[in-house]
Formats: sequence, structure tokens, C-alpha cells
Amino acid sequence: MDKMWAGRFTKETDSGVNAFNSSISFDSRMYRSDIAGSIAHATMLGEAGIISKDESAAIVKGLESILADIEIGKLEPDMTAEDIHMFIEAELTRRLGSTGKRLHTSRSRNDQVAVDIRLYLRGEIAEIKDLLRKLITTVCDIAEVHADTIMPGYTHLQRAQPITFGHHLMAYAQMFLRDIGRLDDTLKRMNVCPLGSGALAGTTYPINRQMTSELLGFSEPMANSLDGVSDRDFCIELASAISMIMMHLSRFSEEIILWCSWEFKFIELDDAFATGSSIMPQKKNPDVAELVRGKAARVFGDNMTLLAMMKGLPLAYNKDMQEDKEAIFDAVDNVKLCISTFTPMLATMTVLKENMRNAAAKGFINATDCADYLVKKGMPFRDAYKITGGLVARCIALNTTLEKLPLETYKEYSDLFDDNVYDAINLDNCVKGRLSYGGPAPQSVTDQIGYVRERL
Ligand code: ARG
Repeated sequence: MDKMWAGRFTKETDSGVNAFNSSISFDSRMYRSDIAGSIAHATMLGEAGIISKDESAAIVKGLESILADIEIGKLEPDMTAEDIHMFIEAELTRRLGSTGKRLHTSRSRNDQVAVDIRLYLRGEIAEIKDLLRKLITTVCDIAEVHADTIMPGYTHLQRAQPITFGHHLMAYAQMFLRDIGRLDDTLKRMNVCPLGSGALAGTTYPINRQMTSELLGFSEPMANSLDGVSDRDFCIELASAISMIMMHLSRFSEEIILWCSWEFKFIELDDAFATGSSIMPQKKNPDVAELVRGKAARVFGDNMTLLAMMKGLPLAYNKDMQEDKEAIFDAVDNVKLCISTFTPMLATMTVLKENMRNAAAKGFINATDCADYLVKKGMPFRDAYKITGGLVARCIALNTTLEKLPLETYKEYSDLFDDNVYDAINLDNCVKGRLSYGGPAPQSVTDQIGYVRERL
């Protein structure tokens, strides 16, 4: 493709440099944003009298026809073009002749690309939020069914205290809810308009930045033209918000992987969401969860790419910044892919309640409740803690559980023990009693589900 900037050059660009320099293979996906930005710019140029109303209308029509042709596959971005901005402008000029050449008046590709990425990512944020909402809804639905399904809660991956599966799941609902909040925050700072910053130093034309900002649905024009073209904070913020989503998905995946191992067997994945082995006939592997966990790593890498790319750049635009797109697009693509595969995997898994219950029965997860029993009868907690520790050691030596230990043995440790200790350490009661706000009692889980659904 002929270069629009070839005027001052006496030689053709080296073909290797052409390929090296070009970004169209990865920025052509922004064609809708580019056309939207150009339509707003052309409209403003006409309104401000910088080009004639007729020229403005012709450019808008031309851009609309290009958009329509790309959408139906009649026009394909030329992969030898430098980038999508150059391609669309060249196509406009091919269609309109010299009127097309007026579009770029008082604009630079530097403010153009800054607008395009913001517009493009705005749409992606909406999609990611939508996927997160579906995921949270799925989590709530399963939690509702399992509001009273007892399982061991863990610390240090050691059985700790009794909770319910619903309670465990609702922790993830809270994380994903915060993720939506982070996307909203990112969007607020992203949604400002750099158009009109020019190459770096604004313009002498009487442009109306307020108008283009409004036409494109931004909250306001960016207040400094150097910042307008050199800011990529919004990419880093988004990559960071996405990294957090991936970290949450990865932790969830790790638990799914553990839960469907023979060691836990708390869940079974649906056959449609598991894979086999090429050699071991018995295998059913949680590949989806493992891939989500793996992809978290590459998304963290994208985030780091963006930070490192920006850290040494003098103001204003530098070509290094062309690298922003592959990194942020990779983060966006992968988080969408992960959430949309993870959600149906979760929705179709079978929860093996019996196994959760059996696991909860071992490991003395009611020991705290045993100590609390003594406290409620007047003993200081530290003394109760010590006595219960002794009882647990006794159970381990006798290979039994607190539930099965005879009352005489309890009495050896404290006179405060009575027959009703067995009620106090009954797992159902232990869970039901944990009614503190945010706790695992079935009623509390139901309340948590209500809280989350309301915020969705
Ligand atoms: N393809 C470039 C990018 O993605 C567009 C901006 C180019 N501006 C320039 N002065 N070379 O960043």
C-alpha cells in the first residue's frame, strides 16, 4: 500500500521494516471503533466549519459504507497496510477522492489510536462484566441447593471447622462481585476522550472537543494533550483488573482440581467438561480447570508487559506503545474464554454430598465447638482449648472421634461435660449455630445469596 507519509522520503521502506512496523494483523479488530471515532471527528469538523457540511456528510456516508462492507465481508483489511487507521483512511479516499483526504484535518494517528483503544476496550469491559454476572448467578444457584451441605472448611489445607458447600461457593461470589466493581472503576478512568490532542500539542483549528467527546459517549475530553496521546494507564488498569479475575478463577480451578481427585472426591465433572488420557484408560482429567489456572499466568504476563513497556517512555507518543494492543487483547480474549468455559463446567458438575459429609466427620473439625461448649459453661477459653486438645490427642490414640468418645472419658477431663456435649459437637448443630453475620449457617448462606443477587 502507498504510504501517506511518503512525501519526505526518497527511498522505499525496506520490506522487512514494513512487516516489522505494521500492526494491522492485530489492530484490524478495532475497525468499528476507528470508524466511530472518524465519524465523530468528521461530524465535528463540519459543525465547526473546518470542512464544509457537504464534505463532512460525504465522509460520514463513506465511512458508514466502509463499515457495512467490512461487516458483510465485502471489504477485508489489507494486511500490507501499516495499520487499521491507515487502511480505512486510504479506502475512504479511494471511494471519495480528495474529500476523503480532508478527514485527517487537525487529527493525528496518535489521538486516533488512543480513542480507538478506549472505545474498543469499553465494549470488552461490558462483555466481561456480562460473563461475570452469569458466573455469579451460576455460583448462587449451586450455593442455594447446597446451603446446608456440610463440608470441612480448611486452613493450611488441613480440615479446620465445619462449613457448608454453599458457604464455600459464596466466597467466590464475593470475589467476582469485587471484580465487577474493579471493572467499573477502570471504566470510569478509561472513559475520557483523547480525540483532539493531535499528535501531542493540540491544534490551531477551532475544534470542538466537547462535541466529539459527547458524540462518542465519553464523560469528558482529556484535559492535557500530551497526556491524551501518551496515557495507557487504562490498559494497565484493565489488565490488572483482569489479572485479579484470573487469579480468582485460578484459585477456584485449583479447588475444583483437588475436589475431583480421588483423594477428595467432593465433586465429579460432567463428561462434557473433562478429558481422557491417551494411555491410561481409567483417567478423567480436569483439563479445563487446569488450563484456566495456566492461563492466569499468561494474563499476569500481559499485565507485566504493559507496565514494563510504559515505564521508560518519555512523553508523548512512542512507537513502543503499539505493543499495548497484543498484550491487552490477549488478556481480554483469555479472560472471556476462561469465564465462558468455566461457568458451564461449574453448572454441570455433580456435587458428592456424602463424601463431603464423610470428610467432615473425620479430622476433629468440631474441636472448637467442644471448647466453646466448656466456655459457655463458664470456663475461660484458653483452659477449654487445652482440655479439648487433650481430648483430641486421646481420640487419636484410640483411633476414634469426639462423637464416639464415652461421657466417662469426657468427665476425666472436666466435670462440666454433660450428656448434651454430643449435641454441641454434632456437625449439623455446629454449622447451624454459626449464625454470625457472613457465617456458614444455612440461614446465613441464604442471606448471602440474597445480598449478592441484589447487587447483580
Ligand atoms: N499503529 C500505531 C499504534 O498502534 C498507530 C499510531 C502511530 N502513530 C505514529 N506516529 N506512528 O500505536
